[in-house]
Amino acid sequence: MDLSIVVNGMTFPNPFLLGSGPPGTNARVIAKSYDAGWGGAVAKTVSLESAKVVNVVPRYGKLRSKTSGEVIGFENIELISDRPIDVWLDEFRQIKKEYPKHILIASIMEEFDKNRWQELTRMVQDTGVDAFELNFSCPHGMTERKMGSEMGEHPDLCEEVTAWVTEVSNIPIWAKMTPNITNIKEPSLAAVRGGAVGISAINTILSVIGVDLNTLRPMPTVEGHTVPGGYSSQAVRPIALRMVSQLALGLPQDVSISGIGGIECSHDAIEFMLLGSSTVQLCTGVMLHGVKMIDELKEGLEKFMVDKSFNSVQEVIGKSLGYFSTHMDLVQKMKAAKRTKAGEASRDNEWAQKDITEKTAELTSN
Ligand SMILES: Cc1cc2nc3c(=O)[nH]c(=O)nc-3n(C[C@H](O)[C@H](O)[C@H](O)COP(=O)(O)O)c2cc1C
Repeated sequence: MDLSIVVNGMTFPNPFLLGSGPPGTNARVIAKSYDAGWGGAVAKTVSLESAKVVNVVPRYGKLRSKTSGEVIGFENIELISDRPIDVWLDEFRQIKKEYPKHILIASIMEEFDKNRWQELTRMVQDTGVDAFELNFSCPHGMTERKMGSEMGEHPDLCEEVTAWVTEVSNIPIWAKMTPNITNIKEPSLAAVRGGAVGISAINTILSVIGVDLNTLRPMPTVEGHTVPGGYSSQAVRPIALRMVSQLALGLPQDVSISGIGGIECSHDAIEFMLLGSSTVQLCTGVMLHGVKMIDELKEGLEKFMVDKSFNSVQEVIGKSLGYFSTHMDLVQKMKAAKRTKAGEASRDNEWAQKDITEKTAELTSN
């Protein structure tokens, strides 16, 4: 079945992309993912001066299910790429030469300086990459240099920086937004005013993964200390889905959305598509399960499309958005369906009649 989709003029063989991070950290791993069948890749974020990027070890932490041990949440305090820009430029060229039909998106980030952003844009664009993703969202480390989410939290900066890049770029620009903000629509709309044609969401959520009760040290612990980091993996998916739906309902129709956050299988990816994402990106999922997970992603989407009689991926995008409403409207709809009694049957003063866990189960839909 044809799983291709055209987004901002780019033809993706399927909507599944590697998200910026370890899965796209050099040409070798990106090539492997193309060979495995991924529709495209957003490379690890690059900047002009890799010498300023110094990582720590350990830099990851996991939250596990208490019953099964499965990883449900993941924190990282990793920075952007620590590889020299010249090496990256060679690799971008090499990837585009060897895989001309695969979509390669370069993620870029710089300090708040027009010359630096435009220099980086020109250099990277010359390699033949297909699009840019502006990293306005890395929530830790880079923020100490006023980069990443330090920009993404300020709509005026998002607009200005996107306009700098737009001025010298002739390929599509996506802006990757931070969830560490009250209303993700505001900086996203600002980036669109600056020239972005796509929004990627979400980057990681600021977090502290836990505290070691033996040492009393918060984790991940580096020489006895830590900093809050970025939270990803399954646990963030509901938050990401909410933000993606708000974007899909609030951005101009022609702005594409690349949905990100806790996707680990086709079911998760389809949820993002139904809420308006024309592509989806996976980062932690690939780190935990490997690039071969693309097989299930493609098979699961194909099966879903056959079962539900969708003829193209495009038809799936945004199909569930019409079902969001207001609370008041839900109450009215229950009245119209003559189900008002259902609401009354579980008024707050009846909670004492049954065990609280039973009452919780009674009111849960899945
Ligand atoms: C170890 C790690 C490194 C990351 N590095 C970057 C990065 O360099 N640039 C970027 O835009 N996002 C980066 N991210 C964020 C991911 O691309 C993604 O937005 C986020 O993790 C949520 O998706 P996921 O649950 O599929 O991982 C990183 C995430 C992780 C876990």
